[in-house]
This record gives sequence, structure tokens and C-alpha cells, in this order.
Amino acid sequence: MKWIPCSGVAVGPKTTKRNTNNGSSKKKKKKQQPQKGTMEMVVMINDKKNLPLERSRTSERSRKDNKGDSKISSNEIPAQTFAFRELAIATMNFKKECLLGEGGFGRVYKGHLESINQVVAIKQLDRNGLQGNREFLVEVLMLSLLHNRNLVNLIGYCADGDQRLLVYEYMPLGSLDDHIHDIEPGKKGLDWNTRMRIAAGAARGLEYLHDKAKPPVIYRDLKCSNILLDRGYHPKLSDFGLAKLGPVGDNTHVSTRVMGTYGYCAPEYAMTGQLTLKSDVYSFGVVLLEIITGRRAYDTCKSVGEQNLVAWARPLFNDRRKFAQMADPMMGGQFPPRALYQALAVAAMCVQEQPNMRPAMADVVTALSHLASQKSAAEMQQQQQPGQSLRLAPGTPRANAGS
Ligand SMILES: Nc1ncnc2c1ncn2[C@@H]1O[C@H](COP(=O)(O)OP(=O)(O)OP(=O)(O)O)[C@@H](O)[C@H]1O
Ligand SMILES: [Mg+2]
Repeated sequence: MKWIPCSGVAVGPKTTKRNTNNGSSKKKKKKQQPQKGTMEMVVMINDKKNLPLERSRTSERSRKDNKGDSKISSNEIPAQTFAFRELAIATMNFKKECLLGEGGFGRVYKGHLESINQVVAIKQLDRNGLQGNREFLVEVLMLSLLHNRNLVNLIGYCADGDQRLLVYEYMPLGSLDDHIHDIEPGKKGLDWNTRMRIAAGAARGLEYLHDKAKPPVIYRDLKCSNILLDRGYHPKLSDFGLAKLGPVGDNTHVSTRVMGTYGYCAPEYAMTGQLTLKSDVYSFGVVLLEIITGRRAYDTCKSVGEQNLVAWARPLFNDRRKFAQMADPMMGGQFPPRALYQALAVAAMCVQEQPNMRPAMADVVTALSHLASQKSAAEMQQQQQPGQSLRLAPGTPRANAGS
């Protein structure tokens, strides 16, 4: 139910779940075989006597022992186990009013955990799905080992009987998807600077997985609904159920069955199943295009030539005069044109057909951090002393360029 092969059936708006496949996805998913790479990963971690499920059970104890240890940051507290009853109480028995959203894995509820006095998001595995159990395990393993300010924090999990639940820190602003697609009439869209800060933060999360995690991790499911937003629109990557340990030694790729979400999959991965870090870079390029244009990666509501975002954007990349037309109309023309060109150039490089032509995430972070740190003309104007006129250096991005 959860994932479709990237070459699978198109997914329309509001149904960008990985599981969509002509409505018959549930059946399809049950037929799916265990993923070799995923099991290899579990074995590897077991070999190192570092199985997070075991560690989690003892983690509460060791945390109590280390209570006064100020060196443990809240981001690095290992996942703890919860009883199903505790999570049911936290969500008032999974009350409809607590529902935050629903994805391929199951439903996500907002709750308050008495024991730690914290508002949390609780994801309940749909018990009809077989794939979910493996995804659950990979998610716990990955998030127990990986810690970064741009990755969502897993507080704990519940594996009581056949119940499988994941407990995350609560992200008050929901997912990026909620802020760039289908904005309610009368609501303001995100401004340019916020978009660039979100893009730079998401890129940093991916850079951590690629360059700092050992061995590197291929995220494999980058999309707007998996970028969650904390206060101040601080982005965090979520959903590691599809993640894979990257190639080690002389290997350039890992081979796997093609999984992901339609519209985000790199073409070479969709065709050959060979997964590299550059497959993530492609997906990042698609997300960046969505952030800039406000369009969906794949939108069946659009005319045939405009359904696939990358296919629509490619010819436009060749004509700088068309760049302004690509910007999300929800910004009302309020963006610095130079920065728009630069952001589109980064996106264009990321979605190149040839994987080796795509940049490394570290380079994407450098470029986007620069764009995100630029002050908008409005901010500069605010800083001006009364009576001073605003002078922009040649080439300084100006806001309101579209007007
Ligand atoms: N930690 C969280 N804090 C706040 N809201 C969350 C959190 N995790 C998920 N959500 C909300 O729940 C929704 C569903 O999330 P979920 O990851 O299950 O599905 P999805 O990302 O839309 O699809 P997929 O299953 O393909 O990943 C999200 O879009 C988001 O709005
Ligand atoms: Mg998700």
C-alpha cells in the first residue's frame, strides 16, 4: 500500500502517497517481497551488537542513570518504549479531533504524553499493511542512529502485541506540502526568504545523511510531505522507512527494487534500480522546483505537457527571460530576480539526466545557504534610519521584481 514503483501509475493532487496505484495498491503491497538491502542493514547493525530496539528498552534506564548529564542534548536522547495504553491516553483514544494527517503508513495523531509532559505526534501503523512492519523497524533503527537538527526526532515507539506506533516530536507547522500546495483562498503563500531557508535546511539534512553519517544513508523518499516544519519554519526530514545504507568501498551504487513516490524518482533509478546518493539529489531538485514554482512534482489536473514538473521546467531553464514566469504566483511577484535565477540554476543542476553531472549535496547547501542568508529589500528598508535612502549595490537582489 505504501510505495509505488517510480515507473508506476501517476498520482494526482491530494493523493501523493506512495501507496497510490489505481486504487488497488493494498493488494499490490501485500505481494511485495522483503527488500534485500533493508534486511542486510538490520543484520549489519545486529552484528555490531547495536540493535536499537534492544538499546531502546534499556535506554530509559540509562537515561535515568544519567539524569544529570548535561552533555546529552535533547536531540540525542535515544528512543524509548511506550505502552499502547499510554499512547491511547495521550491521544484520547485516537480521537478524530487529534488526527493530524494520514499517509501510506497509517494515521498520525497529536497527543500529550503525561510521563514526559510533552506534546507529540503519534503515527499508528495500519495493521493491514505487511510492508509497514519492515518500514517501522527501519524507521526506528535509522532515527536511533542519526541525529541532526534537520532530521525529525524520534522520541520512542510502541511494539505492544501487533500494535506498531512511532512517537515523534510534534512539528507545529505541519509539512511543507501544506504551505506550498493548495493554499486556501485568502491565505498568504510563503515569502521568498522563508522558501529559501526551508530549502537550505532540507538540503542540510540530506547533506548530513550523505556526508556525515557513516556509512552514508540514501534517504530515498524526499518529497514535500516528508519535510516537516518546526516553529519559525525550521525544516526537518521525516519518514526514514525507505532509507538505505549507501554504497561502501569501491561500490558506486546499491541495487534495490524501485520504490519511491512518482515524480520524485531519478530516471536512472526508475529504469535500473541502481540507487546512488545522486538519486536523492534528483529528488531534492524536484522539491526545490516545487518550492520555487508552487507546482506539484506530478499533477494530473494540469494539461498533459505540464503534468510532470521536471518535463515542464526543462525547456524553460534554457531561457532566462522565462524564469520570472516560473515563480509561484502566490509570491505576488515579490522575489529577488537574481536569487530566483540562482535557485533555478541549482534546481536545474540537481535534476540533470546524468547522475554524475548532479552536484553533491554539500555544494547545494553552500549555494542555498547563500541565497537564504540574503536579506530581502523589505528587510533592508526596515533597517534604514529614517531619512536615509535605500541604496542597493550593483547586482543586489531586489524584492518586488515582478511589479
Ligand atoms: N511529527 C509530526 N508533527 C506534526 N505533524 C506531523 C508529524 N508527522 C506527520 N505529521 C502530519 O501527518 C501527515 C501524514 O504524515 P505521513 O508521513 O504519515 O504521510 P505522508 O508524508 O503524507 O505520506 P507518506 O506515507 O507517503 O510519507 C503529514 O503530512 C503531516 O501533516
Ligand atoms: Mg511522510
